[in-house]
Parts: sequence; C-alpha cells; structure tokens
Amino acid sequence: MIVNGAGILVPGATGALGTALVLRLHEQGAAVAVAGRDHEGLARVSQACGDAPARAFDAYDLEQCARTVTWAVGELGALDGVVVCVGGAAFGPAGAVSDAVAEHLFTVNALAPMAFLRAALSAVKPGGVIAAITGVVADSPTAGMADYSASKAGLSAWLRAVRREQRASGVTVLEIRLPHVETGFAGRAVLGTPPVLPTGLPVAEAVDAIVAALSADARLVKPGRDAPLDIER
Ligand SMILES: NC(=O)c1ccc[n+]([C@@H]2O[C@H](COP(=O)([O-])OP(=O)(O)OC[C@H]3O[C@@H](n4cnc5c(N)ncnc54)[C@H](OP(=O)(O)O)[C@@H]3O)[C@@H](O)[C@H]2O)c1
Repeated sequence: MIVNGAGILVPGATGALGTALVLRLHEQGAAVAVAGRDHEGLARVSQACGDAPARAFDAYDLEQCARTVTWAVGELGALDGVVVCVGGAAFGPAGAVSDAVAEHLFTVNALAPMAFLRAALSAVKPGGVIAAITGVVADSPTAGMADYSASKAGLSAWLRAVRREQRASGVTVLEIRLPHVETGFAGRAVLGTPPVLPTGLPVAEAVDAIVAALSADARLVKPGRDAPLDIER
C-alpha cells in the first residue's frame, strides 16, 4: 500500500499507539479517519490530523464497530486500510479472573477487532491492508496473563485464517505482534497489577515498524533476532 494518499481508518486512535500511528500516517500524506471511545481524546487527535473525520464507538457494540467501517468509506470516499489499535489487559492468576473480566478481554481484544476487520473485508480496495495489533503473548502465553494471552491468541488465529481466505483477493492481512512498548498500557489494566517489566520499546520505534509493514504489504511485525522488530512479507 502506498501510504501517501491512502484512505486509512484507525479504531483505537485515542490510545498511545493509535494516536502516534495516526499522526505519522497523516504526516506521510494519508487521509485518515479516526475512531475511539474517549470523546475528548478523539477531538484532540482529529484536530492534530487536520480535522480528520472522527467517530466514537465502544468495543462492546460490535455492530457499531462494523458500521464505523461503512462510515469511514463514506467520509474518505474509499478505504485502503484499517489498522485496529484497540485493546485492554488484566493481570493475575486465572483462578482470580472473573468471567466478566474474561468476557471484557475477549470483547475488546478479539471480538471488536474482528468486527472491524470483518466489515473491512468487503470495504477495503484490492491492494489494501487490514491489520490489528496482537502481542507477543499470542505466541508465548504468559503466566498471570492467561485470559489476555488467550484473547490475543484468538485474534492472531483469526488473522492467520483470514489471510489464507484472502490469498486471491489482493487484500493484505497484517498482524502486528508487538513486545512491550512504553505506552503505560499495562498500568491501565482492568484487573491486577503488572509484573515488573523491562524497559519497553519506544512508541516511535513501534510506529516506524507498523508504517514500514503497511508500505511493504507485509503480513507480520514481530520481535526480531538482530533488531527489536522484524517485518515479514
Ligand atoms: N503497550 C504495549 O506494551 C503493548 C504490547 C503489545 C500489544 N499491545 C497492544 O497495542 C494496542 C494499543 O495499546 P496501547 O499500548 O496504545 O494502549 P492504550 O493507550 O491503553 O490504548 C488502548 C486503546 O484501546 C481502546 N479501548 C479500550 N477499551 C475500549 C472499549 N471498551 N471500547 C473502545 N475502545 C477501547 C482505548 O480507548 P480509550 O482511549 O477511550 O481508553 C485505547 O484507544 C492494544 O491492542 C494492546 O493490547 C500493546
């Protein structure tokens, strides 16, 4: 996808990674549409992106997630990419996590991203990209994060299966499997306190990799051997 001139919807544009990504895409000439839960944050990020079209949603309303994609097509004229940056964490042993918290994690981390991207499949132009941030826990389920890990692994599996379905369509399916990034994300967990984590990647470095992956029609961003992040085509 050529970012300059592309129409890109970013759900979760009010979050740390979402805001940094949408600003970078705007700077690089994309026409962005921003979606988020926090109305004030949404107004701020829209203004910072040249009064980009903005729309509020809650991850619990899956139909609203899908309708946000239709809305973005109307606002931008055409849609080349959707990058879902929505997510939430919880910490603690599985026995201490209530079903309500588990339902929250699966809704915010799996069902809502899937609803956005499901709707995007028939909306994004050939040559476009659908993408979501998962996390290294999708690959390495982590003690004290069983439900978070499972919700991200569910989204990862969905993306991999959809990639197979889309082989002939010309739409790229990108999984952004990030390690710890310094956004304060873990401190906003709905339950528990995070373990002591080593210093994470700077936000700008994660955004560099996401934009490079979008531009290269890559299928995976993941921690690398020789560099903090590798991009696989
Ligand atoms: N930071 C890391 O270390 C790290 C590592 C791996 C993966 N990730 C993933 O990266 C993504 C972005 O995380 P971040 O670090 O940028 O954290 P963040 O700043 O907390 O962003 C989370 C985003 O999710 C949105 N969200 C949460 N619950 C929602 C709901 N019920 N309805 C609508 N939106 C909701 C938040 O909206 P509000 O602004 O309205 O709260 C915010 O836009 C997440 O999927 C996270 O799992 C992060």
